[in-house]
Amino acid sequence: MRRIVIVGQKALASPEYSLDDLAGTSGRLDVLLRALRAALLVSHGLRQDTMAYLVLLGGPRAPRTVRFDGAAARFLRPEERSLATLLKKVLAATSEGAGFAPVRPGIAIAEGGVGTVIADLGGAAPYVLEEGAPDVRDIPLDARDGAFFVGDHLGFDGAVRAQLAAIHATPIGLGPVSVHAEDAVAILANELDRRAAR
Ligand SMILES: C[S@@+](CC[C@H](N)C(=O)[O-])C[C@H]1O[C@@H](n2cnc3c(N)ncnc32)[C@H](O)[C@@H]1O
Repeated sequence: MRRIVIVGQKALASPEYSLDDLAGTSGRLDVLLRALRAALLVSHGLRQDTMAYLVLLGGPRAPRTVRFDGAAARFLRPEERSLATLLKKVLAATSEGAGFAPVRPGIAIAEGGVGTVIADLGGAAPYVLEEGAPDVRDIPLDARDGAFFVGDHLGFDGAVRAQLAAIHATPIGLGPVSVHAEDAVAILANELDRRAAR
């Protein structure tokens, strides 16, 4: 199972955002939703081999994490507004208790942030996408079962960096240019697809 983890430093963990001004009212959930689309949706449906996590670290309800399972999720459409509408409904659900609670088919929510994701990795090798890190094309990696952490428009803060260092996440780079999170996910997915097809 491929796992893509997108960490939103200010991304709102509750549904009080405007669909008409998503970028301005949600702590940049728009960045996370475009990255989600790149991680999970392909031309004719969903990636069956991928789980995507949105780690929401913004607002009074944070931290919370929403998990999307490409093998089980239904009715995910590529439009940002449609994804924002779906996420609003998911965030309105209660998420007390330990671990991920199912909200809809293939979609679950949990209290907690990066630590909650780490506990859910099931032994997958962790990697962190970092500008300037050794190039993904030059290092061995687990193309089928890796867990890949991606920052938002702000990158990673010190606390998340420390959590990733504690699990010895391997830094990987995607080339010399710092790209948007959604493009980083698309480039990574393509690299993994190519390796998995070999
Ligand atoms: C827009 S970038 C973050 C930029 C932010 N200003 C910073 O300094 O970290 C969003 C995320 O995409 C990933 N990313 C972007 N370009 C990358 C590259 N060339 N190599 C590896 N990861 C990259 C990283 O995970 C980064 O945190």
